[in-house]
Amino acid sequence: MQKIAILCSGGDVSGMNPALKRFVEYSKVKGLRPYFVQNGFEGLIDNDIHEAGYSDVTGIISRGGTKIRSARSARFMEQAYRKQALDNLKSHDISYLVILGGDGSFKGMQLLGDESDGIGFSGIPSTIDNDIAGTEYCLGVDTALNTIRCAIDSIRDTASSFSRAFVVEVMGRECGYLALVSALTSGAEMCLIPEIPYELDEYKTCFHKQMGEGREYFIAVVSEALKNSEQIAQWFEDEIGVESRITVLGHIQRGGNPTVYDRLMAFNFVTHAIDGLLEGKRSSVVCYSKGGFNHKKIEDVAFKQYQMNEDMLKVGAEFGSKR
Ligand code: F6P
Repeated sequence: MQKIAILCSGGDVSGMNPALKRFVEYSKVKGLRPYFVQNGFEGLIDNDIHEAGYSDVTGIISRGGTKIRSARSARFMEQAYRKQALDNLKSHDISYLVILGGDGSFKGMQLLGDESDGIGFSGIPSTIDNDIAGTEYCLGVDTALNTIRCAIDSIRDTASSFSRAFVVEVMGRECGYLALVSALTSGAEMCLIPEIPYELDEYKTCFHKQMGEGREYFIAVVSEALKNSEQIAQWFEDEIGVESRITVLGHIQRGGNPTVYDRLMAFNFVTHAIDGLLEGKRSSVVCYSKGGFNHKKIEDVAFKQYQMNEDMLKVGAEFGSKR
């Protein structure tokens, strides 16, 4: 019976646990013996690899985070440690490895694929940042967006009661996807992300006009990449004449029980990863685009720059323009 392993790498996302459950169950359906690697690439180096069964995944579908833990591994960038990792996989006689992670993890996977002979690797895009080239969706994004939506709905209640401006700083690393979708779906008045240039003077003209027409409070969604939350809060006080507060949402965006959408996507990503490996795909990433799943070569994903969808950028550019 062939053996297949799975690991989670980089920032955890809600959806990893449902993926682990599907991994164990679908591996067995396909006649494979499932293994868990603890602590991401660190566990691969340290041989923290164990066979997994139904009892390891009972009750985890509703939990955020990852039962097998995650890590960011500096050691894995060194060839000697990667050799150790490959030797460990061989010592367990593992034929396939599924990797849940972001672009840093896929760079590691590409190196591993180049240096291994015989083992098949499959990547599942998993990061709340949604910043992986080649896929429109990364596991965990929907749960993070719902967490942000929930937080902004609450902030709106207090913002309206006090006629204040709230600067809400959201994660996403260098990518403005979370901020833009959150701003659009929470009815924010301002959205600042690295992909779209903005003029505070244009916002100023627009906000003064709106205040003249009755607007009493403001929600500004700001991407963490810009590092300007303090500056924007001060700008509201000095230039708009509204008292301001800052909420940095931080790591609550990474947790919480996975949404229905993330559970379903976890199920589908894992199914396609295992099917692809059994069909002989040796080093590919399962991507989601145009409503369906497909496999892309790791080199077309790992070192490519993610570009946000043009239509979204166009809508995002409406923020700040004189409305
Ligand atoms: O990549 C996911 C992410 O949550 C980013 O949005 C954020 O910038 C970063 O990880 C935070 O990293 P850490 O959990 O190491 O503080």
